[in-house]
Amino acid sequence: MTATPTKKLRSRAWFDNPENIDMTALYIERYMNFGLSQAELQSGKPIIGIAQTGSDLSPCNRHHLVLAERLREGIREAGGIALEFPVHPIQETGKRPTAGLDRNLAYMALVEVLYGYPLDAVVLTIGCDKTTPACLMAAATVNIPAIALSVGPMLNGWHKGERTGSGTIVWKARQMLAAGEIDNAGFIKLVASSAPSTGYCNTMGTATTMNSLAEALGMQLPGSAAIPAPYRDRQEVAYETGKRIVEMVAEDLKPSDVMTREAFLNAIVVNSAIGGSTNAPIHLAALARHMGVDLDIRDWQEHGHKVPLLVNLQPAGEYLGEDYYRAGGVPAVVSQLMDQGLIHEDVMTVNGKTIGENCRGVEIEDEKVIRPFNQPLKEEAGFIVLSGNLFDAAIMKTSVISEEFRERYLSNPSDPNAFEGPAVVFDGPEDYHHRIDDPSVNITAETLMFMRGAGPIGYPGAAEVVNMRPPAYLIREGIHALPCIGDGRQSGTSGSPSILNASPEAAAMGGLALIQTGDRVRIDLNKGTADVLISDEELAERRRKLEAAGGYSYPASQTPWQEIQRSVVGQMNTGAILEGAEKYQRIAQTMGLP
Ligand code: FES
Ligand code: MG
Repeated sequence: MTATPTKKLRSRAWFDNPENIDMTALYIERYMNFGLSQAELQSGKPIIGIAQTGSDLSPCNRHHLVLAERLREGIREAGGIALEFPVHPIQETGKRPTAGLDRNLAYMALVEVLYGYPLDAVVLTIGCDKTTPACLMAAATVNIPAIALSVGPMLNGWHKGERTGSGTIVWKARQMLAAGEIDNAGFIKLVASSAPSTGYCNTMGTATTMNSLAEALGMQLPGSAAIPAPYRDRQEVAYETGKRIVEMVAEDLKPSDVMTREAFLNAIVVNSAIGGSTNAPIHLAALARHMGVDLDIRDWQEHGHKVPLLVNLQPAGEYLGEDYYRAGGVPAVVSQLMDQGLIHEDVMTVNGKTIGENCRGVEIEDEKVIRPFNQPLKEEAGFIVLSGNLFDAAIMKTSVISEEFRERYLSNPSDPNAFEGPAVVFDGPEDYHHRIDDPSVNITAETLMFMRGAGPIGYPGAAEVVNMRPPAYLIREGIHALPCIGDGRQSGTSGSPSILNASPEAAAMGGLALIQTGDRVRIDLNKGTADVLISDEELAERRRKLEAAGGYSYPASQTPWQEIQRSVVGQMNTGAILEGAEKYQRIAQTMGLP
């Protein structure tokens, strides 16, 4: 059945415009050249884009090539015509220097496609870390009806009877290698055990986080985010998603109807409950700005910090993606939060119902994996937002603070939740790798390790490097984590309680540019402060000298895009977007249709 559109479809400006018969003919003949008919193109059926993020270069999302077949069947059955096209590939673990560099590139390119071609709506095939925000950001800017389809996580990894989780196993294997417990071959074998099937990271890394948040924002069909990639349910929901996007055209249900400020606040609350990635605040800030929604980094502490950790997934907990799905996925988590009044229930979602209607009464199927609200894994598990003379804003993920870390740094009876120590400063990940095990660097159990030159400008796209392992000699003494502070990011699969995403970065002459090895630094989680303990005069003097020397230096760009992005990218606390791009909003409505 073809649903009856409520307003003229934008694709008619290409395919059915009698006032410009020359162009209409040209548009039609070329889309006929692979077998579509004139009758179809002029039938008034909505043209649905499938923004394809999967390819051989992006294995996390590659299964979307298969799912697209079921999407097409759903689209066709509901009365639409599918046109599939590639999105610039972004494989988190494949792209040098960083996948972060390509999020804005894929965003910008997808905006051009959605705006400039005869598309009435789009299915966003999301998955690997940056593909989700890139696609959602573009849909927000253009604001045609859009629905997201997650590719789903890989099956659980196993090694010697224990779950091995994506990324998280790497941090463990690094420590085992440093301690001499495994060799290089053992390292690769252990890490590869975590990737047993198609799909994205099976931990609560940035991918599972962002896919869960895409559902919490209302942009995916309820219950669909957590379905593992190879499950038959994943095929089924692809079909349902295809059908639904055609109905959304008839209803004119657009991203701006779904992604309201209340939807973002829901996502922040859900992020705390799932133990979500430290990349989420960057991507949600970017998405909100392109959507034209006010969202401040402080909203994460105000609305998210007190929320408990309910989902027992690695790195904060024990389980993996399959367990998360079987336990009930996002709706089971939202239902627990709704019972406490923590969710704005009236927010509209892509299935045409509110999040309250979708999630009310959804039961937890396995309480080991998703805890009831009154039996959480951790209380107050959201992010803390810190500021001081080192940066205006940085965040700390409290859900991954280990007992060892808590006892050593946060349990001083006269000064709880605060600690001080001497800084050791690394300029970029290469400097860290060269010097970390050099005893003359003199890293001790008291040291606070700093990573700078790793932000959106300094290391184009911002490197995931702030979670630094201590030197091997300290690990052998049983010290598994030192406080890490930096202007880079870290993988969502890391269990390190780093202070990261510091903005402005050293390369933008933030306070981190001025710190020197040996300076004492004080971190106070109660007050939310991070300060180097030197006078304002001394800091100002250092700044004068550094500016006179040409500022904080960082490596030259190696590609045209690195240079372009570095010249316009903002800082992470405001989403690291292409500054200026946010003024283009809801642009599909500016088409000037006849
Ligand atoms: Fe693609 Fe983790 S590397 S989701
Ligand atoms: Mg990552």
